[in-house]
Amino acid sequence: MAQASLDDLDLVLMTMASTIVDNADYFAQLDSIVGDGDFGYSLRNGWEVVLSDYATFDHSSAGAILKKVALTLTAKVGGVSGPIWGTAFLRAGTTAGDRTELAAQDVIAMLRAAVTGIMARGGASLGEKTLLDAIVPATDSLEAAIEDPAFQGDHGVAAIARAADVAVKAALETKGMLAMRGRAAYTGERSIGSVDAGATAIGVILQAISAAWREKHGS
Ligand SMILES: Nc1ncnc2c1ncn2[C@@H]1O[C@H](COP(=O)(O)OP(=O)(O)OP(=O)(O)O)[C@@H](O)[C@H]1O
Ligand SMILES: [Mg+2]
Repeated sequence: MAQASLDDLDLVLMTMASTIVDNADYFAQLDSIVGDGDFGYSLRNGWEVVLSDYATFDHSSAGAILKKVALTLTAKVGGVSGPIWGTAFLRAGTTAGDRTELAAQDVIAMLRAAVTGIMARGGASLGEKTLLDAIVPATDSLEAAIEDPAFQGDHGVAAIARAADVAVKAALETKGMLAMRGRAAYTGERSIGSVDAGATAIGVILQAISAAWREKHGS
C-alpha cells in the first residue's frame, strides 16, 4: 500500500467531519433506540468546529493536526463520546508524531493506538456493542491488505474499500450483541435486536472516506 501525505490526512479528516455533520440526525436516531439519542448531536458539536477551524490548526505534522482535532473533540463533544474520541485522536497523533508522510504501517500503528486508548478510557472490550466492534475488524482488514499481493499498486483504493465494507458488515453484526457500555447498557436485554450507533457511524464514515480516497487516487 502507498504512503499518505498531509494532504491525504486533510482529505480523511474533512470527509469525516462533513459525514458526521451530514448524518447527525441519523446517528442520533440510532442512539435513541436503546441509548439516549444524543450521540449524533454530541459528535456534530465537535466536528463542526473541526470543520470551521481546520485552516487555523497547526499543520506542521500529522501529530500536530491530530492533537488539535483531539483537543477540539475533548472540549466540544459531550457525554462519553468526548473523552473516547478525544483519546483516540490524541493517541493516534502521538503515534504519528512529527511525520509528514505516513506509511501504511504507520496508519495501522495509529489505528491500534487509538483502539488501545478507547479501551483504556471507556473500559470496553470487543463484543460489548460499541464502535470498537467496527473499528477493530476494519483495522485487521487494512493490516492484512498490506502484505496481500492482491491489494498492491492502486494507492490503497481497494484495501480501504474492503476495510469500509468490513466495518459496515461488522456494525450490522452488533445487532445480536448485548450492550455492556454507555447508556445503551441500562436497557439490558432490550439492547439486543438493534445495531450499535457508534459502530454504524464508523461504517458510514469509512464508506465516505473510501469514496473520497477512490476519487482522489483511483485510476
Ligand atoms: N465505554 C465505551 N467504550 C467505547 N465506546 C463506547 C462506550 N460507551 C459508549 N460507546 C459508544 O458510544 C456510542 C454512544 O455515544 P454517546 O455519546 O451517545 O454515549 P452514551 O452511551 O449515550 O453516554 P452519555 O449519554 O453519557 O454520553 C455507542 O453507540 C457506542 O458505540
Ligand atoms: Mg447517547
